[in-house]
Amino acid sequence: MSVLIKNGRVITAADDYHADIFIEGEKIKAIGKDLPFEAERSIDANGMLVFPGGVDPHVHLDMPFMGTFSSDTHETGTRAALFGGTTTVIDFVLQKQGHSLREALDEWNGRAVGNAVGDYSFHMAVTDYNDKVKPEIKEMIEEGITSFKTFMAYKGALMIDDRQMIGLMEEVKKQGGLINVHATNGDMIDYLIQKHRSEGKLTPLYHYLSQPEVTEAEASERFVDMANYTGCPGYIVHLTCEGALNAVRNATRRNQKVFVETCIQYLLLDASLYEKDGEGAKWVMSPPLRQKKDQETLWAGINQGLVNVVATDHCPFLWEQKMMGANDFSKIPNGHPAIENRLELLYSEGVHKGRITPNKFVEVASTNPAKIFGMYPRKGTLAVDSDADIVIFDPDKKHVLSAQTHHMNVDYSGYEGWEVTGKVETVLLRGEVAIDQNKCLVGKGYGQFIKRNKVVGIV
Ligand code: URP
Ligand code: ZN
Ligand code: ZN
Ligand code: ZN
Repeated sequence: MSVLIKNGRVITAADDYHADIFIEGEKIKAIGKDLPFEAERSIDANGMLVFPGGVDPHVHLDMPFMGTFSSDTHETGTRAALFGGTTTVIDFVLQKQGHSLREALDEWNGRAVGNAVGDYSFHMAVTDYNDKVKPEIKEMIEEGITSFKTFMAYKGALMIDDRQMIGLMEEVKKQGGLINVHATNGDMIDYLIQKHRSEGKLTPLYHYLSQPEVTEAEASERFVDMANYTGCPGYIVHLTCEGALNAVRNATRRNQKVFVETCIQYLLLDASLYEKDGEGAKWVMSPPLRQKKDQETLWAGINQGLVNVVATDHCPFLWEQKMMGANDFSKIPNGHPAIENRLELLYSEGVHKGRITPNKFVEVASTNPAKIFGMYPRKGTLAVDSDADIVIFDPDKKHVLSAQTHHMNVDYSGYEGWEVTGKVETVLLRGEVAIDQNKCLVGKGYGQFIKRNKVVGIV
């Protein structure tokens, strides 16, 4: 199959110009003005933006968590991602405590292989680091799983202690990988949850009040210090607040590079939603939504280059699942659906409203995650020989987000009724037209596992 995309406004993290793009097979073959090639399919992109497919490095598909499973499978989740212009996602494999990383990988392959519609990779979450697991770090890197997720929270479930963290950092550094962290103080949070429960304070608001900003600022600082001590590259996932970002800002003074991800919800939503009548559970996620001042800090952090990535932490649950915690906030499965909405929300609220440039939009939503996680330049840019993962986007089209029209397997939207400016019109994934005219044209199993490189790109 060959495709010619004609006369779009081509936007990468670095450039912004009008050109044609010629695609043959899975790859981009040429970019230039008035390209002289004949193609089997020609797409007129006049008036459209043309940018690289989104890379969402933080999603939880079909994940066992808090007594249930997140409600999007690798099929439904990656399909919804494609509808929203995200062509590659990185999902989390969770080691079971007392078991090996290999067993966990086998289990996740069983769920993803042959099911994914869009491309995917895995992070390996190490929840029990010991001498048996140590040699598996190298093995996982050889499998193309080069990033290792740690939880400083979820005490009694996923959390590791600092002793395990230091040991893991030393090994990951030695083998050329990267440590990802959910950086909040699990002991403090556990104490506050139990305290609120014992006082009969059980509404979703107390989810928020059990994870105050200091729990995230403290853990972020501790993580950054441990990463500095061991020399291991670090990546803080879903950073939400000023205090945590300041821990990273301080580290830059000692010439330490720590990558920072925030998620679309922390840029746009705030903690007042926890008091919305009967609906607070929709936004029960960890860390919780914060304050308006934190949103401003995060937007500024993006422009300062301190916040490198905008992901989703997509971890959807049906309302019925959320209602497992109807009478106790600590039993509400944590997570929020956004895999389909990230690019349109970030464009509308970011670029359209003048908070970030189009180049910055591409950088944080596609290029930086591809670079940091060893997929660049195959993914994350529009260049000759890159995968033809391409979004054709109408920057002026207004539409309304709703659970009635989204493709995620979840019966509510965290953004119900939001009007956004800008719409994903056509999406190519490895040269195939995957989305066009609100239809998905590739099937279950089209999505490939992307083996990642060790090299952590400079961003
Ligand atoms: O609430 C969240 N974030 N759920 C998914 C697991 C995690 O901590 O990322
Ligand atoms: Zn086992
Ligand atoms: Zn987390
Ligand atoms: Zn997560």
